[in-house]
Amino acid sequence: MYLPNKRPDNMERITTPALAEAFIEEQVKLIQEQVGDKKVLLALSGGVDSSVVAALLIKAIGKQLTCVHVNHGLLRKGEPEQVVQVFRDEMNANLVYVDAIDRFLGLLEGVAEPEAKRKIIGAEFIRVFEEEARKLEGIEFLAQGTIYPDITESDGVKAHHNVGGLPEDMQFELVEPVRLLYKDEVRVVGKALGLPDGMVFRQPFPGPGLGVRCTGAITRDRLEAVREADAIVREEIEKMDNLPWQYYVAIPDLKSTGVKDDKRYMGWAAIIRAVNTVDAVTAESVEIPWERLCVMRDRIIAEVPGINRVLWDISDKPVATIEWE
Ligand code: XMP
Repeated sequence: MYLPNKRPDNMERITTPALAEAFIEEQVKLIQEQVGDKKVLLALSGGVDSSVVAALLIKAIGKQLTCVHVNHGLLRKGEPEQVVQVFRDEMNANLVYVDAIDRFLGLLEGVAEPEAKRKIIGAEFIRVFEEEARKLEGIEFLAQGTIYPDITESDGVKAHHNVGGLPEDMQFELVEPVRLLYKDEVRVVGKALGLPDGMVFRQPFPGPGLGVRCTGAITRDRLEAVREADAIVREEIEKMDNLPWQYYVAIPDLKSTGVKDDKRYMGWAAIIRAVNTVDAVTAESVEIPWERLCVMRDRIIAEVPGINRVLWDISDKPVATIEWE
């Protein structure tokens, strides 16, 4: 551990590009001091925190960093492509892209219980990452996108974003350059590092990804429907003036009757959910204007095969949770 565990009382909140630049300059020096000419490994999900850490390390040590992006098949539409484009194509980083879709979906086949799904996804993620790490020679450091709330909130919901479960013989020294920052500061730093807005201002996304929004036993066709419908809802909601804190589509493992060309058939229901919250402990449903709901309904029905109903989830937390599982 290079930085202290507690944020110093006099540490200024990073709110401006100038403060972000100063932070970046300081961290680049610290990273270079800590790492020297050694190699660093980073699990790069494409979320804000790991992306900012990747960009900082690329600036500090360039190709001494290897980023591993594991595509478990549960990412949102366009996410894996964006990671490759930003980090490999634009930032010229060492990026190992692992297509582990079949592995994850194979293991998840027939598993309906939410916590069992989470466990499988978390454990397999570590296994895939470990396999990739073993292929690389001379790694001595592990970089992580730990942020200050992850340290202060012991039940941190992000626990399995972080690769904490590596075996004994793979305990690397940690590089955690944003560990004293709050989320809003990480975003200001990300912007100053030139990361795209779509990455920097991204809404929170759970580690098990779309897996908890394709409820019950995941099937490939329903998972694709979740991904496509979610992309439509994100696109339409992002036209609103005030973005909700989190907004997405879930498709439960449930079919209902529909009618098309005078024939009855069974289809899925796409459920739109948008919430605001401060700390995710409580949350309230966000009002979406009727016209926008109708646009989303029409697009989902026209563009996503298998869906014959669109619903709007207006539940608050409690008693509903933000995610469907
Ligand atoms: P719930 O559904 O419990 O979600 O109201 C609260 C917040 O946590 C996120 N969430 C998760 N994040 N792994 C994560 O990294 C998970 O298993 C997980 N489950 C829920 C959820 O998206 C919301 O922001």
